[in-house]
Amino acid sequence: MSRPIIAPSILSADFARLGEEARAIEAAGADWLHVDVMDGSFVPNITIGPPVIKALRPLVSIPFDVHLMIAPADPHLEAFRAAGADLISIHPESGPHLNRSLKRIRELGAKAGVVFNPSTPVETVEFMLEDIDLLLVMSVNPGFGGQSFMGSQLAKVERLRTMVERAGLDIIVEVDGGVTADNARRCVDAGATALVAGTAVFKGGPEAYARNIEALKDARLHGAAAGPAPAS
Ligand code: DX5
Ligand code: ZN
Repeated sequence: MSRPIIAPSILSADFARLGEEARAIEAAGADWLHVDVMDGSFVPNITIGPPVIKALRPLVSIPFDVHLMIAPADPHLEAFRAAGADLISIHPESGPHLNRSLKRIRELGAKAGVVFNPSTPVETVEFMLEDIDLLLVMSVNPGFGGQSFMGSQLAKVERLRTMVERAGLDIIVEVDGGVTADNARRCVDAGATALVAGTAVFKGGPEAYARNIEALKDARLHGAAAGPAPAS
């Protein structure tokens, strides 16, 4: 079993020192930087937009995994790509034509992702997997960091992983919300290949980042009901 991609969410960073935080996270071994964009309408919270991504982009070289919790998303896709987004994920509920939006993201040169709210059915993507690079399963209701992990969403991860395997496609399955070193193994066992974590990475301050990221990457060794770690 290979180690998961770890994408720390800068939502949990110190916003007064965002540049330093991004650098510290990269130095600590993060694979991607997860950027939570919220508009105060599609979700209750308001966060950041393209200018902040543009300011951070030159400071680190890891991919920017941009999670758009905005509606409509279509008018802003180009601005996020121009600002430096490498992966752009959208919620199906944010617009009328999910497939058109995904194709637009790829046309702009980014990887295209679909985000599943806890209530979003897997069938949403069943007939267009070839237009998708990333399936992002929310294990909380979107809007805030620091919420509790919803174990019920692991069945969705399993269903999506099976769908991807059957189609023979190279699609990343990512879990986002309440991910910790204690549930990371369950996510990976269910079929996740990437994990977003805000609270679990940023807790303890910069000197703890590398240790926190390593604990998530070593998902094989954690998890209450996991039993002994596999030999390899
Ligand atoms: C929630 C966001 C998540 C969240 C992750 O709307 O999409 O990325 O901030 O933070 P934790 O790991 O604290 O749940
Ligand atoms: Zn997110």
